[in-house]
Amino acid sequence: MRLKRTILILGIILLAWWSIIYVFLINNLTYNRNKDSTGSIDGQLMTLENGLEEQFVMNKALISEAQQFLENKKYMENSKNNFLGLQNIQIPVLVFACNRITVTRCLDKLLQYRTDENRFPIIVSQDCDHEETTDAIKKYSSQITLIQQPDQSDIQVPPKEKKFKGYFKIARHYGWALNQMFFHFNYSSVIIVEDDLEVAPDFFEYFLATYPLLLKDESLWCISAWNDNGKQDLINLDRPDLLYRTDFFPGLGWMLTRKLWLELYTKWPISYWDDWMRDPSQRRDRSCIRPEISRTRTFGKIGVSNGMFFEKHLKYITLNEQNVPFIKLNLSYLLKENYDREFVKNVYKCPLVDYEDLYYNKIAFQGPVRMMYEKMSEYKLITKKFGLMDDFKSGVPRTAYKGIVTFHYRGRTVHLTPYLGWKGYDVSWS
Ligand code: UD1
Ligand code: MN
Repeated sequence: MRLKRTILILGIILLAWWSIIYVFLINNLTYNRNKDSTGSIDGQLMTLENGLEEQFVMNKALISEAQQFLENKKYMENSKNNFLGLQNIQIPVLVFACNRITVTRCLDKLLQYRTDENRFPIIVSQDCDHEETTDAIKKYSSQITLIQQPDQSDIQVPPKEKKFKGYFKIARHYGWALNQMFFHFNYSSVIIVEDDLEVAPDFFEYFLATYPLLLKDESLWCISAWNDNGKQDLINLDRPDLLYRTDFFPGLGWMLTRKLWLELYTKWPISYWDDWMRDPSQRRDRSCIRPEISRTRTFGKIGVSNGMFFEKHLKYITLNEQNVPFIKLNLSYLLKENYDREFVKNVYKCPLVDYEDLYYNKIAFQGPVRMMYEKMSEYKLITKKFGLMDDFKSGVPRTAYKGIVTFHYRGRTVHLTPYLGWKGYDVSWS
């Protein structure tokens, strides 16, 4: 039915266009004839031929425009249907807490920006039996739901990993709480937030608008609010609406579906759950959506990992302050078939520059550029120079998509791309 209508619309547009061209050509011919009544038939034929050629080119452009238009329309209709179908769907936020009373900072922001308490229930899952923290959470009474991880038994950790016991506890807590969300509360998706994260004003709209992508695109397995390279000097502050695909699992404010949990829960690891997710046997070539400007910020200087990472890097990640009406935006460019065609093509169209020229501001022209890396040492050198994160997990650089790391520098988009003939991530890069 819809296909028929689509063809009809396309037909009408083309018919209208041809009519215009026809009238135009006829007029043109008559005009030329009047102007030069002795004009040769040859001259007139040439005019006609040129006119037809022009028309052909324009028609091609028009058809391609119409196709794009229809594609967009289809996407908007679909997402409208999705949203309609999803009208009663709840997207809960699961907050992980343990023994930090500063969880209130996280909860205050969530409550401040939550637009709809029925759609976005907040469930706080607490580990650690820390009374002060429990009391702080209970003060929110019916605005949130508190659940508590019952298994507080000691975990047997290999001697070498004694100091990493915290990671074992976190993984155990995650496993339990996600089972609760999907199998006890029966939610079909969950947004995960940790107690040391604070969210942006459009946090909820971001997840609501990207949810249909997550359902539709099998090559996506998460939506994340986090940009690992989201420091002020590395982002485009004028484009809070801009989103990307990434092969690197960012975590730190992210959404998953029940379908994914059904796949993961049977083999959920006993520790280091996030790096385990990044392992090829879990990720299976799937990507996440991530924003240009982060929708979460971490204030967790003191936690399970040491504060160095926080001091050197995490604290500089900028939190988006503007409200982007994501629901009204066409996000179809993020679907794999569109993105792999358009984004990747545009990246490799950019002029190749030397990183030193970029760094020392020696590029004479404006607009996006591309830099290339071949060896791991080269990648590390360039990223260090620009203040990007230089590490890998399972061979994937932070924020990379098909090996491409995109950032913003001195007013232009920069794509750091792998060498020609790149075959995929090398897990030995670390
Ligand atoms: C880091 C990651 C975090 C990930 C964790 C697991 C960053 C900035 N953080 O944790 O996203 O989940 O590694 O590999 O990359 N918690 C418990 N039980 C505990 C201790 C902590 O449930 O016994 C909870 C905390 O409340 C918090 C979460 O686990 O919500 C992470 O703990 P945190 O102390 O913040 O550890 P990070 O080093 O940030
Ligand atoms: Mn933390």
